[in-house]
Amino acid sequence: MLNFSFENQTRIHFGEGQISAITNEIPRDAKVLVVYGGGSIKNNGVYDQVISALKDHTWFEFSGIEPNPLYDTLMKAQALIKEHDIDYLLAVGGGSVVDGSKFIAAAALYAGDDPWDIVAKQQKVESALPIGVVLTLPATGSETNIGAVVTRDGNKLPFMSSAVRPQFAVLDPAVTLSLSERQISNGVVDAFIHTMEQYLTYSVNAKVQDRFAEGLLQTLIEEGPKALLAESKDDLEVRGNIMWSATMALNGLIGAGVPQDWSTHMIGHELTGTYGIDHARTLSIVLPAVMKVRQQDKHEKLLQYAQRVWHISEGNEEQQIVQAIQLTENFFQSMGMPIRLSDVKLGESDVDVLLEKLELHGMVALGEKQQVTLPVSRQILTTAL
Ligand code: NZQ
Ligand code: ZN
Repeated sequence: MLNFSFENQTRIHFGEGQISAITNEIPRDAKVLVVYGGGSIKNNGVYDQVISALKDHTWFEFSGIEPNPLYDTLMKAQALIKEHDIDYLLAVGGGSVVDGSKFIAAAALYAGDDPWDIVAKQQKVESALPIGVVLTLPATGSETNIGAVVTRDGNKLPFMSSAVRPQFAVLDPAVTLSLSERQISNGVVDAFIHTMEQYLTYSVNAKVQDRFAEGLLQTLIEEGPKALLAESKDDLEVRGNIMWSATMALNGLIGAGVPQDWSTHMIGHELTGTYGIDHARTLSIVLPAVMKVRQQDKHEKLLQYAQRVWHISEGNEEQQIVQAIQLTENFFQSMGMPIRLSDVKLGESDVDVLLEKLELHGMVALGEKQQVTLPVSRQILTTAL
């Protein structure tokens, strides 16, 4: 196992009815900005629960954060923060609202000239307004982690800072019942691929991390399809297991002390930045190709994945790995996800565009051993055609 330091001090309130916990989580004298997206929270009762919990607080609201949040939208919140002297952000939504709130919180206290430098030049974020989260879409893990992704002019770029880790997160599986099938699938597959990015590298004999990761993968394989089936889609236990898996997949626990890949995500971000494809749908296209192209480098872990996650025992090592990749693709397809660039109507000419974007963003040595150079990314994208 590699050396590591681990912390995750986000307090979690899990379960039905837990939105009321925000009353005591946010200091009574705080001036709160409730941040949300396109309005789903007004249709499913979440907004009403939030304002009821904040009835004795002073609060304002900022809405309109779009999926894959845009820098220009997020910067509009700054005027409101100054005008009302806001000192607490409550993000109510999915990963885009949480990520957007993290950027708003960091930009509000940013000492430099241009907050875009936080992502473009990876300027260190030393401080940020405190953030609380009411999560409505289990997927990204953003509700307890230190990452966020922001887009400007087709450039989708991440930043990380412990200053933006939420102070608390409410995970109420009941609020996920209003999700569309597409968003349920996106969430399950995003969480699955977060786990894979931290698991499918090379072995460092980190047994706890490996077995936690395998447990998350198996839970998502078991529960994901149930959330789409008529007879089980409203089952709160199914929703709860998916929600907790998504948080656990990217809260730092399974990634502590192990090598991490993230090349699928970095290539996927270019697909979203350039063509607007949903985050998780870029990943379900890229990951199978990463598994195929990097089969030799990842041989040991791919075999472990085949045997422990899919219980494959027939055939030689090579055949077991090929079967595991096939089963992974079948799982994504059973969740209604695309697995090839052609599934989202992209072809060979788009590969050149994507490679230019990767180069522009300095994504030229990705993966657990920095071996995913531009020629390897080309091979991955060509394999995904
Ligand atoms: O905007 P509203 O109206 O709320 O609708 C949203 C949005 O249209 C809707 N939705 C959310 N909860 C709902 C709901 N609809 C009905 N009922 C509910 N309960 O779902 C749509 C998509 O929401 P979004 O927040 O964009 O989805 P997701 O949670 O998948 O977040 C994706 C963003 O997170 C980033 C992605 O790159 C992308 O920008 N990521 C953040 C990460 C992190 N911070 O650690 C890691 C991830 O890998 C990812 O990169
Ligand atoms: Zn992701």
